[in-house]
Amino acid sequence: MADKAPGSGSNFSRRGFLKAGAAAAGVAGFPYIARAQGAKIKVGLMLPYTGAYAPLGIAIENGFRLALQEAGGKFAGRELEFIKVDDESEPPKATDNINRLVTRDKVDMVLGTVHSGVAAGMLRVTRESGTLHIIPNAGFAPAAGPLCAPNVFRTSFSNWQSGYAMGEVMAKRSNVKNVVTLAWRYAAGEESVKGFKDAFLKAQGKSVVKELWIPFPNVEFQALLTEIASIKPDAVYSFFAGGGAVKYIKDYNQSGLMKSVPLMGAGFLTDGVLEAMGGAAEGMETALHYGDGLETPKNKAFRLAYAKTFKLQPDVYAVAGYDSGALFAAGLTAVKGDMGAKAAMIKAMEKAKIDSPRGPMTLSRAHNPIHDHYLRKVVGNENRVMGIASKALGDDPAMVAACKMPA
Ligand code: BEZ
Repeated sequence: MADKAPGSGSNFSRRGFLKAGAAAAGVAGFPYIARAQGAKIKVGLMLPYTGAYAPLGIAIENGFRLALQEAGGKFAGRELEFIKVDDESEPPKATDNINRLVTRDKVDMVLGTVHSGVAAGMLRVTRESGTLHIIPNAGFAPAAGPLCAPNVFRTSFSNWQSGYAMGEVMAKRSNVKNVVTLAWRYAAGEESVKGFKDAFLKAQGKSVVKELWIPFPNVEFQALLTEIASIKPDAVYSFFAGGGAVKYIKDYNQSGLMKSVPLMGAGFLTDGVLEAMGGAAEGMETALHYGDGLETPKNKAFRLAYAKTFKLQPDVYAVAGYDSGALFAAGLTAVKGDMGAKAAMIKAMEKAKIDSPRGPMTLSRAHNPIHDHYLRKVVGNENRVMGIASKALGDDPAMVAACKMPA
């Protein structure tokens, strides 16, 4: 293993950040180079490789690897070494898992994760250790709110955002007044429903007549579907993803509700899962910051390269992995591969304008994406983009206000 300069760590400590800021202003005492320049950069992949979110974790890793492959196998002249941990989407195991990467393996950067509850556990460790942490999915609101930190970046979304975008769409529909929400009861479902309500209930005459919940990762929907049938709302708004979304939409379709009570939601409901649903989601509308059929040269090239490399179709999760690679590369390039130049690296990542397959993406002061959200409709195996649901959408104002990032 490469040597470290005395008194330095391979990580970004919170105290180190204050010193880093001072160093940027020309003050001495900045903890210096973490690893020898020629050594491989250690990247911890803490993602789900088993359980309901396993395909999401795999897509994120593939996306990141594709970005690296397109950069010629190196970022800023540095090779990467990957250390993988299966987090199983199990919040109680999160602390042990992230500690393995940060404390035992001393990774330079950690990429993770999918599940908001696991991300919360990761943040407790990475905020304290200062390890560079890129969140490639988990939309956990506080990560870009009260728990924001200089070393924590998110390339995906906040759960509030797609809920809000779909709420804006449904608020404009005169035939949608009474809505039932049904979601997994954990941070992601709760924040998604909050986003939906924040936009939908702004319009006059709209109400959420019932909020229904099911614990993650349960997929026993029958009793809930029976309740929806008895309420007869104008529409249902839902948050599910991965294998849970497949089961939910198949059950919803089989219950006969699809024709009488349109099912809408955050785009995770139908992203990356359409083939597995065998047509059950046909015609469903969702909102998300990505759509398979986005007609941009960047998206077309990304989809071709991903399909060629992995013999799989990419989805929104693959996009976030790919953009995580681009963001990391932007930071490393600015410091010529020297991860010891922490303040400059962070500054470059903050300013990065990522040419994403989703469209242009910038980061907010809290390091959360600002990006367009699209209204999509399922046509065959495609989430077809029908138009913009919400232009350059930022985050929940409550979270933006709660982020006290050191200047
Ligand atoms: C979350 O836990 O934040 C999440 C998981 C899957 C898809 C979207 C969000």
